Amino acid sequence: MCGIVGYVGARPALGIVLDGLRRLEYRGYDSAGVAIVCDDELRTEKRAGKLSNLEKTLGDERFGSARADGAAARPLGRPPMVGIGDGTAGIGHTRWATHGGPTDRNAHPHLSRDGRIAVIHNGIIENFAKLVAELEADGVEFVSDTDTECVAHLLAAALTDLRAVGEPDGPQLLAAAMRRVVQRLEGAFTLLAVDAGIPGAVVGARRNSPLVVGRGVGEHYLASDVSAFIEHTRDAVELGQDQVVLITAGDIEITDFFGAPALGRDFHIDWDASAAEKGGYDYFMLKEIAEQPQAVADTLLGRLTEAGEIMLDEVRLTDQDLRDADKIFIIACGTAYHSGLVAKYAIEHWTRIPCEVELASEFRYRDPVLDRSTLVVAISQSGETMDTLMALRHAKEQKARVLAICNTNGSTIPRESDAVLYTHGGPEIAVASTKAFLTQLVACYLIGLHLAQVRGIKYADEVAAVVSQLHQVPDRLRQVLAEMEPVRQLARELAGANQVLFIGRHVGYPVALEGALKLKELAYMHAEGFAAGELKHGPIALIDEGTPVVCVVPSPAGRGVLHDKIVSNIQEVRARGARTVVIAEEGDTAVVPYADDLIYVPRTPTLLAPLLTTVPLQVLACEIAAARGHDVDQPRNLAKSVTVE
Ligand code: M6R
Repeated sequence: MCGIVGYVGARPALGIVLDGLRRLEYRGYDSAGVAIVCDDELRTEKRAGKLSNLEKTLGDERFGSARADGAAARPLGRPPMVGIGDGTAGIGHTRWATHGGPTDRNAHPHLSRDGRIAVIHNGIIENFAKLVAELEADGVEFVSDTDTECVAHLLAAALTDLRAVGEPDGPQLLAAAMRRVVQRLEGAFTLLAVDAGIPGAVVGARRNSPLVVGRGVGEHYLASDVSAFIEHTRDAVELGQDQVVLITAGDIEITDFFGAPALGRDFHIDWDASAAEKGGYDYFMLKEIAEQPQAVADTLLGRLTEAGEIMLDEVRLTDQDLRDADKIFIIACGTAYHSGLVAKYAIEHWTRIPCEVELASEFRYRDPVLDRSTLVVAISQSGETMDTLMALRHAKEQKARVLAICNTNGSTIPRESDAVLYTHGGPEIAVASTKAFLTQLVACYLIGLHLAQVRGIKYADEVAAVVSQLHQVPDRLRQVLAEMEPVRQLARELAGANQVLFIGRHVGYPVALEGALKLKELAYMHAEGFAAGELKHGPIALIDEGTPVVCVVPSPAGRGVLHDKIVSNIQEVRARGARTVVIAEEGDTAVVPYADDLIYVPRTPTLLAPLLTTVPLQVLACEIAAARGHDVDQPRNLAKSVTVE
């Protein structure tokens, strides 16, 4: 929620900050704003709505007074003053509103009374009401409804106090003032600030909210995630919890909130810049759907050692810890939760350890039974989802071991876990998760196999056999993707429907839930996923003449009973007027008489089938949303990374 960018160097900051914001816009798109330090002055601009509104307002300013091609950036007749496009230090923000509606006034940056300090923020300052009351008592008049504005005023007061006691002016003063302020804040925050009187410096602070540093040559960056600066540098520093960072053109200085020097963790970004671009597709979502074969292949790469053992990434757990696990909890939200639901079938089948899947937002409130022999698997694409992070911390407080599945190096969830398996999906920009889901499934399968192996339930050759099946998935996915035209046609036909229901059994049930979630978030349609057997216990009453029901059918070659049962369920809904859209394995002729629309996917073992059966549902949702005229990549009310509870 909210994307944050900061830059200091020798180049004009505005263009770099705006480009960074464009890459972070998936995090929130209620408003956008920038503050650039120009010749001892602060220039700010902010607008409600998408980043494009702000860009329109700024016009050619991003090119500064001297464009590389020599053309004049400003209309003739404008005074040759140093403009917003010329400053070489600045910050920018793209917002997902929490406190205060999505208006110009509430857009970030927020300024001190004298307009010389600008602050941007991601998160929620929980004690803001108390701080506002205190500042108002001192005569500060607030001009926004946000929790953030108080930080600008507190920072101004801290700078005044520090100057009054003779602290020398300069970047260090800005960092010292930020430390004073953050010591008073409660909640979750990433903050960036600039001061017109301290040019060439941006200060940042983080608690429970993401912030990474990009290390350049003679320039440095701060951002909510690395996609904001990968076109400039692949060298990054992951900040720890409760740290303040000061960047200047020549230096990066990190301390804790009390000024003690601290270290970040250096890492190299292996995504390339084009991964964060649309690459000719109309939407990021379409590009990310198309990238799934590669994303699955990359996540599998190098996982099996010559000795036939599965490799995780960062492992601070011993095999004995894994052998001692007598219960597994999977915690996650949204799409990641659905991947956990699939994982339960595989993990219990392969390891015989009881496995429960919990919505992370509910987990800690029901006082789950956890101890040091519980293994908690936290699944998160972003690694920053606050509900998952809080559930993870609760598990750790109860001494459980935590293993993370994550797509984002440098994020909080893997850092706080005892072991990590990174999915190598590359950046996922579309708000609707696609390749993250498939790579999370692969990671779950690998973890299930690893557990089975260390516990002596599966031998190396058995593990290798499943891994070899997994290695065949990318080609099968390519086959699925090549045959999506009928799904696109179907999407156009279903675009006017009032509701779409999804049914499945066994691992097809979470796939049905995922298909319904995709349709809800993208097409704003009523969509529900059901365990097919549950229909007759109530939901079948929803079915009316022509109601589309998408049926995810398991392989007839796997568990015959499962297959036959869902074929009966399809007949039941069809008898009540449903239009049945059947996703089945190629060669499954038993479903033909009951399918109004039939989509075949290649044969694959039952447990791995969600890797294929999910794809037509992603395409269906994307195309229905497009047909209904929605913004596929940035659906209303949502943000990619949910960093508030
Ligand atoms: O970053 P995470 O995987 O922790 O995000 C969890 C959910 O917010 C996310 O999967 C969400 O449900 C998707 N955008 C849905 O497509």
